[in-house]
Amino acid sequence: MEEYDASTYGQRIARVYDAWHEERFARQTVEAVSFLLDAAGEGPVLELGVGTGRLAIPLADQGLRVHGIDGSRRMVAAMRAKPGGRRVRVTIGDFERFPMTGSFSLVFVAFNTFFGLLSQEAQVRCFRHVARHLQPGGRFVVEAFVPDLSRFDDDQRTSAVAIDTDSVRLDASLHDPVEQRVTAGRVVLLEGRVELYPVQLRYAFPSELDLMARLAGMRLRERWSNWRRDPFTSESRGHVSLYELARTTASTPGVRRIR
Ligand SMILES: C[S@@+](CC[C@H](N)C(=O)[O-])C[C@H]1O[C@@H](n2cnc3c(N)ncnc32)[C@H](O)[C@@H]1O
Repeated sequence: MEEYDASTYGQRIARVYDAWHEERFARQTVEAVSFLLDAAGEGPVLELGVGTGRLAIPLADQGLRVHGIDGSRRMVAAMRAKPGGRRVRVTIGDFERFPMTGSFSLVFVAFNTFFGLLSQEAQVRCFRHVARHLQPGGRFVVEAFVPDLSRFDDDQRTSAVAIDTDSVRLDASLHDPVEQRVTAGRVVLLEGRVELYPVQLRYAFPSELDLMARLAGMRLRERWSNWRRDPFTSESRGHVSLYELARTTASTPGVRRIR
């Protein structure tokens, strides 16, 4: 079996990524860009998992210097092919390791991409790298779903995503509640062939993310239900969380020990 790493999701989905999410992105992207512009100040900004540039390109269009990290060359090639896609500076690599230098007014990670880090250790390490790459007063914005374990029956789930006369799209997932891991595949049945799009993630509840932030010397400043800034409540299915460096950062042991 092919090993799953930081490039796998993007390399497999790049060709269809924008088309599959068109409806969701049409609703949310303008609001997300507006939120991020407010949070960015003068920049520069860094996006973890920059993908096809859905957010990075419009931010760069506003005159911000935008840098992205991504594990998938195909996702980045799709961004480069778009108008303005060459204005975003990109480092190819794993954002668990932050293979780059620089200091940013805003680091952000959207559309559940943070959960692409598959262990708690990797997620904590990422928070620490972010803290190390923020300017004084810098912010880290995370957009993610609130885990809903009732989606799984006997720790698995199969659901129909889209059906038309030429194709059927199904999602199949297995859930490991101890590791908080979901191993999933989108299966596309077409006339005469089957396509597979794998995705693995490690989910975390907002409270665990807040703890990771504290370990990295950051604190939660704002949490909303979405980019529109609707209030975050126990009914919220997702969140947009804005962290900032705590004032005590310089004496926070976790921050100094970043490697
Ligand atoms: C769901 S897409 C999000 C793309 C873009 N941020 C957006 O909102 O449309 C996730 C992106 O993160 C990248 N990615 C996932 N895990 C990664 C990792 N550990 N290191 C670097 N890139 C990663 C994928 O290649 C993909 O481009």
